[in-house]
Formats: sequence, structure tokens, C-alpha cells
Amino acid sequence: MNAILKRSEPDFAPMRLEDVDAVLALEQRAYRFPWTRANFTDSLAAGYSAWCCRRDGELIGYALVMMALDEAHLLNITVAPDWQRRGYGLLIMRHLFDVARSHGGKHMFLEVRPSNAAGQGLYARLGFKTIGRRKGYYPAGGAREDAVVMTLTL
Ligand SMILES: CC(C)(COP(=O)(O)OP(=O)(O)OC[C@H]1O[C@@H](n2cnc3c(N)ncnc32)[C@H](O)[C@@H]1OP(=O)(O)O)[C@@H](O)C(=O)NCCC(=O)NCCS
Repeated sequence: MNAILKRSEPDFAPMRLEDVDAVLALEQRAYRFPWTRANFTDSLAAGYSAWCCRRDGELIGYALVMMALDEAHLLNITVAPDWQRRGYGLLIMRHLFDVARSHGGKHMFLEVRPSNAAGQGLYARLGFKTIGRRKGYYPAGGAREDAVVMTLTL
């Protein structure tokens, strides 16, 4: 008999404190200026909507969203470098849209670095529109980098 190993579909589970070690390790591989452990644990303590995406147990990516009334604010979305450009960013964003809508979300807001071509490409592909700029929002090694503010009607 042919032993063909089939990979299962990716699944989403709420991020828990036990996940933070793996999430932080991925965060540090994905960003030049990564979130700290406290950024994640504080976000979980605050009750933000936080999700891990796994496939066959492997952490592929994660995302966090803050809900306030009918607004969803994207705080972080990350796909593991080895798994980028395979549609997981779109999959995770669409999961966040479903979660936000189920909590009454009507608009999603986010910030992205002007230098982040992957982030901007992902958001443009999903229909996000630029609505402004926050001056010096991000650390950038001594100087600061602006943020492009984008929104989408859910
Ligand atoms: C941004 C990020 C989440 C995208 O995830 P991904 O799984 O690679 O994205 P997908 O494969 O779903 O790509 C969907 C679309 O986004 C756009 N896109 C993704 N990566 C891109 C890149 N490097 N350059 C330009 N456009 C890109 C494309 O339109 C792409 O569609 P296509 O592959 O059919 O051309 C991922 O690159 C990442 O984790 N980067 C590091 C962390 C980060 O910058 N997060 C966003 C902070 S605001």
C-alpha cells in the first residue's frame, strides 16, 4: 500500500499564555523590531482577540485584534517566514474578519510601516484603503518611522 502522508487543513485556536514562548520565538524571527513578551501577555490579560494558526501542530502564524464597539483594531499579524507567500496571511485576515463581525465589528483599522511591502500588499489585496498617517509611530533604530493608517468596512 502506498503510504501517502496528507497534511491536514490549518486550524485556529485562541492564543493562551502557554503559547507565548512559541509565538515570541516566531515574532523575533519575523520582525526587526519585535513585540516583547510583555506585549503579548498584556494583550492576553486585556482580553484582546488573539489567535494561533497551526497546521499539523506547527505554528504557522498568529494575530491579535482589539475590539471596541463596532471597531476592530488589528494589533499584530504574523506568518512564519518559512510559510509566507502561501496564502496564510489572507486566511488569517479572513478569520479575523469573521471573528470581528461575530462581535458586531463593522470596520477594521490598522497601522503599517510604509517600508513594509508585504503588509501593504496583503492589506491592499483585501481592499483596505489608506486614511492617514501617524508621524513617528514606529521605532526604526534611532529614528522613528511613520505609520500608514488603513481601514476596511467589514
Ligand atoms: C505580511 C504577512 C503577514 C503576509 O503573509 P503571507 O502569508 O506571506 O501573505 P499571503 O501569502 O496570504 O499573500 C497574500 C497577498 O498579499 C500580498 N503580499 C504578500 N507578501 C507580499 C510581498 N512580500 N510583497 C508584496 N505583496 C505581498 C500579495 O498580494 C499576496 O498575494 P499573491 O501571493 O497572490 O501575490 C507576512 O509577510 C508577514 O508575517 N510578514 C512579517 C510580519 C509583518 O510585517 N506583519 C504585518 C505587520 S503590519
